[in-house]
Amino acid sequence: MQRYSLAQKRQGRTVAVVPTMGFLHEGHMSLIDTARENADVVVVTIFVNPTQFGPNEDFDKYPRDLERDRRMCEERGALAIFAPEAREMYPADSSTWVQEEKLSRGMCAKTRPTHFRGVTTVVAKLFNAVLPDVAVFGQKDAQQALILCRMVRDLNFPIRMIIAPIVREADGLAMSSRNKYLSAEERVNALSVSRSLNAARARLEVFPGADLDGLKQEMAAEIQFSGGRVDYIEILDAATLEEPTGDSGRLLIAVAAYYGATRLIDNVLMEKKRK
Ligand code: PAF
Repeated sequence: MQRYSLAQKRQGRTVAVVPTMGFLHEGHMSLIDTARENADVVVVTIFVNPTQFGPNEDFDKYPRDLERDRRMCEERGALAIFAPEAREMYPADSSTWVQEEKLSRGMCAKTRPTHFRGVTTVVAKLFNAVLPDVAVFGQKDAQQALILCRMVRDLNFPIRMIIAPIVREADGLAMSSRNKYLSAEERVNALSVSRSLNAARARLEVFPGADLDGLKQEMAAEIQFSGGRVDYIEILDAATLEEPTGDSGRLLIAVAAYYGATRLIDNVLMEKKRK
């Protein structure tokens, strides 16, 4: 992989990477489009990374279809796929981790305590393999995106990070490889997640001083009424992932909720008008 990237660079081409865990959908395709707009060569990495799954999570049953992914990447103009085996990425005696320690504490980390350590470690390794000039990630994983930008800054990776907007189905459901797990009924019920996010944003736009705890309770009630089980609902400063203050520029409203056994995450960003 490094030889391929170095050869591209020697010929004056820039390289963008789109890291994925495969089972690609239109959201990933939009990341490839953004990568193509920002570099000459797009490399898609496809690797279901074992170290970011907890012991009782869906690593074994995470959907995989490399042949379909390959076709989709080719049709969309990605020039290379890097799809390593786990044993190539992690030698049996591998004992080094990359860990961000501030943004990785709340939200998803509360129920997935080792998740972000796995993400930062694998993404650092993928960066070292692909040697990209540009890396494109999705805003749907808002916490992941912030953590990875922090990692790139803190560890001086010479990479320009681009965070691309969430891509939604026509009815508002955020695209995710995990949507495949939802039954038809759960799929309809799960629309409450994006509905509650939009309602909260609309309320804060009209009433910037609205009580945030009350708003979160209303969101939780809507999700629970639709049969969802709330993991977390947060309204935070979008840059620090801390409680908003008078100085906060943008707010992140974020939800993680289970429909059946499927955990979905979604979020919206908004300018903060509060004093
Ligand atoms: O967002 C994902 O699909 C994964 O967390 C990533 C960034 C590819 C690391 O495995």
